[in-house]
Amino acid sequence: MKPTRALLLLPLLMVFLAACGGDHPMSTLDAHSDLTRSINVIYGRIFWWTLLLFILVQGGLIYTVMRFRATGKETTNPEQVHGNIRLELTWTILPVFILLHIAIPTVSTIFESQAPASDDAVTVNALGKQWWFSFEYPELGVVTANEMHVPLGQEVAIRLQSDNVLHSFWVPQLTAKRDMVPGRVNHIKFKAEKLGEFLGQCAEYCGDSHALMKFRIVVDTPEDFAKWVEAQKAPADTVADASKAGFDAFQSAGCVACHAIRGTTAASIIGPDLTHVGSRTMIASGILENNAANIKKWIMDPGEVKPGSKMIDLNLTSEQADSITAYIQTLK
Ligand code: CUA
Repeated sequence: MKPTRALLLLPLLMVFLAACGGDHPMSTLDAHSDLTRSINVIYGRIFWWTLLLFILVQGGLIYTVMRFRATGKETTNPEQVHGNIRLELTWTILPVFILLHIAIPTVSTIFESQAPASDDAVTVNALGKQWWFSFEYPELGVVTANEMHVPLGQEVAIRLQSDNVLHSFWVPQLTAKRDMVPGRVNHIKFKAEKLGEFLGQCAEYCGDSHALMKFRIVVDTPEDFAKWVEAQKAPADTVADASKAGFDAFQSAGCVACHAIRGTTAASIIGPDLTHVGSRTMIASGILENNAANIKKWIMDPGEVKPGSKMIDLNLTSEQADSITAYIQTLK
């Protein structure tokens, strides 16, 4: 292939790499909340204005180059023009209107997305950790990690905080990107418009495992959400003998130093709350499917799964890891 033809393929390759078109869970083009729909309106305005201006400027440039190119027969310089009031006024005033057309919805969407929560909103305190997310529902008495459930069509107001470094909360199809800043509370609110799971990702570099700091928002029907809240509020079911033995392994290995399991003596808030960890679809903040093999792998060698992880390698034996894994799986 000639180099020029290969060059022509470049834009196609770029579109492919940008994952345009296609049904991608992280695509911002699929808006499934009131907030992301507003963002897409702004995105559309910026895109079409930019495209129009690109065509006008490049068209004018190409026309000028063709129309006024030197023939080689000129004996004097062409007429020299300096300044044109009408043109200069046009290309000053016109951009002002274009920028207003973009700025007004941008500013109003920013303010609207962090306005005070309405009375019927579900409020969530989201805390960025290295490298996972804690989600607390203060009015509902629920604490969970990395998987936030919200009801369809109801306002969700999230208070974003960090007690360590900068993180950024981002679920492309439901929310804007908004930073989690130590010593400051940021707000974001939205109404989900589609049932299902929506992937999120920390969007601010925050250390070794920034890229592995994933999470998800599960949009439930209001009935399913109420059931989820009831189940999450309950303490861990520790009645069975098997779970007593499992908890002993959990305790003697040292897991209790960082984790809480409500209904037991484990009450530390350093790591994620594990009271209902068995009900989550993923572990290690959205990077491993929640199954026995992955739990064992994760607790036996956290640094291998997530480089720099604050989860300590407790040098568990394979037997210890098996009984802790079995116990964790009972925590539905
Ligand atoms: Cu947290 Cu990047």
